[in-house]
Amino acid sequence: MGIVQDIAGDWEAALAALAWQVELGLTDPCGEAPVDRFALEAAPVRMPPPAAASPTAPPPVAAVADDPVAVAQTVAGRATSLDALREALAGFDLCELKKGARNTVFADGNPTARVLILGEAPGRDEDVEGRPFVGRAGQLLDRMFAAIGLSRISPDPATALYITNVMPWRPPGNRDPEPAEIALMRPFVERHIALADPDLIVVMGNTPLLALTGQKGILRARGTWTEALGKPLMPMTHPAYLLRNPIAKREAWADLLAIRDRLG
Ligand code: URA
Repeated sequence: MGIVQDIAGDWEAALAALAWQVELGLTDPCGEAPVDRFALEAAPVRMPPPAAASPTAPPPVAAVADDPVAVAQTVAGRATSLDALREALAGFDLCELKKGARNTVFADGNPTARVLILGEAPGRDEDVEGRPFVGRAGQLLDRMFAAIGLSRISPDPATALYITNVMPWRPPGNRDPEPAEIALMRPFVERHIALADPDLIVVMGNTPLLALTGQKGILRARGTWTEALGKPLMPMTHPAYLLRNPIAKREAWADLLAIRDRLG
């Protein structure tokens, strides 16, 4: 902020300074005085609208408002379609991360795909665009799965991908989601997977591994088939990790081949 103020009046220099700061990783504009957004007044519990308000909305629930996980379970459990779940998520105000996010990032790709990819949380690009995995890591993810003939834009379930995240809102500064935040959103993830009903799940990174299996340590877990929610599950290292550690791409390739084999 300081730099931009110092040269106010010369908008071209201000724009260049801003671009330079973005290049350095300062991705979010903020004020001079710090704001503790977690100390702001808690959002009131908003129950989903009555069914009459929309043909896809879940019916109203008499959930226990002081137990956010119970509310999440009730609200998610009542969604009978992906559209209804998207709507339920958009109306769910009990996760603090939502306050700082520009968009609720629900999913991308083909919901009828045999393969569902579960990521961690939106980053800056995803938060801006409202779609998962659209930044650098997402572009690598697209290339990785294209190498085994799968794509998020394929209309054919056999060659398609459906992509979503554990957290629909970007954590501040791209920090890892906390276990309590993961537990809060897990009912939505479970319902999402039940409604999409893929043949297999690929979890990318620690957060979705923890959310679906309760296990920690993606580097140990990767490459070995396990099961979650009654479906085969392949843990893989996150594409952002592969960008930082290109040597690990060899193992990721082995994991992709295992997925291809499993799909037959
Ligand atoms: N990383 C993720 O895990 N998900 C995204 O959507 C983007 C980056």
